[in-house]
Amino acid sequence: MCGIVGYTGKRRVVPVLMEGLKRLEYRGYDSAGVVYLLDGNLVRYRCQGKLSGLETVVEAVLGVGSHTGLGHTRWATHGAPTEQNAHPHTDCSGRLVVVHNGIIENYHSLREELREKGHVFTSETDTEVLAHLIEQHLHDDLAEAVKTALRRVEGSYAIGVMSADHPGILVAARNHSPLVLGVDEDGSSFMASDIPALLPYTKQVIFLNDEEMAVLTDGGRRLYSLASGREIEREISVIDWSAAMAEKAGYKHFMLKEIFEQPQAITNTVRGRINLETGEVVLPEITLGEEDLRAIERIYLVACGTSWHAALVAKYWIEKYAAIPVEVDIASEFRYRSLLVNERVLTLAISQSGETADTLAGIRRAARLGSKVITICNVVGSTMTREADGTIYTHAGPEIGVASTKAFIAQLAALFLFTLYLSQLKRSIPVEHRRRLGQHLIDSARVVQELLPKIREQIGTMIESFYQCRDFLFVGRGLNYPIALEGALKLKEISYIHAEGYAAGELKHGPIALIDKDMPVLAITPKDSVYQKTISNIEEIKARQGRLILIGTEGDTQLEKITEDVIYLPAVHEDLNPIIYTIPAQLLSYEIAVRRGCDVDQPRNLAKSVTVE
Ligand code: F6R
Repeated sequence: MCGIVGYTGKRRVVPVLMEGLKRLEYRGYDSAGVVYLLDGNLVRYRCQGKLSGLETVVEAVLGVGSHTGLGHTRWATHGAPTEQNAHPHTDCSGRLVVVHNGIIENYHSLREELREKGHVFTSETDTEVLAHLIEQHLHDDLAEAVKTALRRVEGSYAIGVMSADHPGILVAARNHSPLVLGVDEDGSSFMASDIPALLPYTKQVIFLNDEEMAVLTDGGRRLYSLASGREIEREISVIDWSAAMAEKAGYKHFMLKEIFEQPQAITNTVRGRINLETGEVVLPEITLGEEDLRAIERIYLVACGTSWHAALVAKYWIEKYAAIPVEVDIASEFRYRSLLVNERVLTLAISQSGETADTLAGIRRAARLGSKVITICNVVGSTMTREADGTIYTHAGPEIGVASTKAFIAQLAALFLFTLYLSQLKRSIPVEHRRRLGQHLIDSARVVQELLPKIREQIGTMIESFYQCRDFLFVGRGLNYPIALEGALKLKEISYIHAEGYAAGELKHGPIALIDKDMPVLAITPKDSVYQKTISNIEEIKARQGRLILIGTEGDTQLEKITEDVIYLPAVHEDLNPIIYTIPAQLLSYEIAVRRGCDVDQPRNLAKSVTVE
């Protein structure tokens, strides 16, 4: 949802901005722009479309001796993705610029008011209003003008502001959109929407909170509360991600790299959290007392998209092993529906980014109503982690591909761990049972490691007959129903093939009408407790000439009698099948999208980290 980057210090600024934007491009790629200060004037370049367009334009100025600047990569909300609507936006004088991530909800009335005062607007964006509003309040103190202007603003923003008349200074501010500051060894300062933009330069960061502002100079930075105007002290945090983790490392796409990083994501997420001798699960990050957790009578799992699919799997696990009733909610629904919440209700938010606007609003609402809140999150210091009563981090490393893969698998691992933790608090299963389940979880990393290259090869030969399809169904039962949903989401978002996921038993209640010889159906068919039921559903599809791809358990020769397109996976504990069965669905979607010539890392219309409603 738009990426912003800024730097003031000793380095030449244009390469810093471009490197930062490259690492933020997953947040939006409708247009991009940079601005820097040179010889007392602002120099601005903007380009419609992906960053590569801007790269060509700024190639000649990479070496300019400017040391202060801002950059932006856009996911369009207000105004078409044109060059004119691309950030940075200027005021009337052209001497003040703003980059922005978020939505200014009252921009319409502000624009009218400013127009009456003589301001002339050149774009259709909500952001441009900010530049003019700051100009309106600017006398000589830039930070003061930003502070005053923001008091008039409703909505969400992370902004970077600079002015030709205030050389060497950047003003940053946030409210409901992420913003992190970077601290260089030499005192220089960065700002960025997300940590990967900072990693080539520094691992020392400062997280800004809502309604906070920072004034950056090449000698340091000062933080202020926007509400009180008072200066704030904030500790520097050190990030343990490396710059290389956010690079492709020889893979053709980030998505493929991230699929292959999944064994490590499981191992890193589970490491040190379960003792295989005693069966004890330790999650010290959850600051809620054990008594509070033991008293939990009901759980809301709240998330969006792929993370919501992880929540659906977790419902099966938690109800089975911890015997606590679970409701799973899409965050954009949860935040507005009536909720039955008290202090014996736990709200567990699942989010890779920790910044998704709907999920964040959901946990804020639940907390206001008295619920305890825990998050499962991949990004250290993200907003959700700072607001919750505890965070279970998924140590998947930075996920750059817009389609989530390794973060999902790590979420499953964390949720299974959390289930075991609850079962320990509730004493709902014997210790030895918990210990064995923990062992199965740890072993799943090795199983995924071994099957990845084999499955990729097998799928490579299979996709020729499927890549031109217009529609696709994914079906599964029980724990694998959410995996059918996830498979369908992966395929549609990166290949633009229309795909739906269904509970296999639900087909006969309507969707079976779609089945004919042109409708491929991928069925998740492990030898589990509902195997025979799934087989019956598959036979119903076959009887209607549906084109079946079956994913089943090694040695199950019955599947080959149904279709020639069978992918075999090793037998694992039935409850861990979702981890294993996700892999072929991801790889199939990936290979089909590549075969169709799609941009898998940056699918059209999408952006990672959805910080608007
Ligand atoms: C799909 C995908 C999205 C995200 C969703 C929630 O591949 O990545 O559906 O899962 O936008 O994002 P987080 O987990 O960051 O809250």
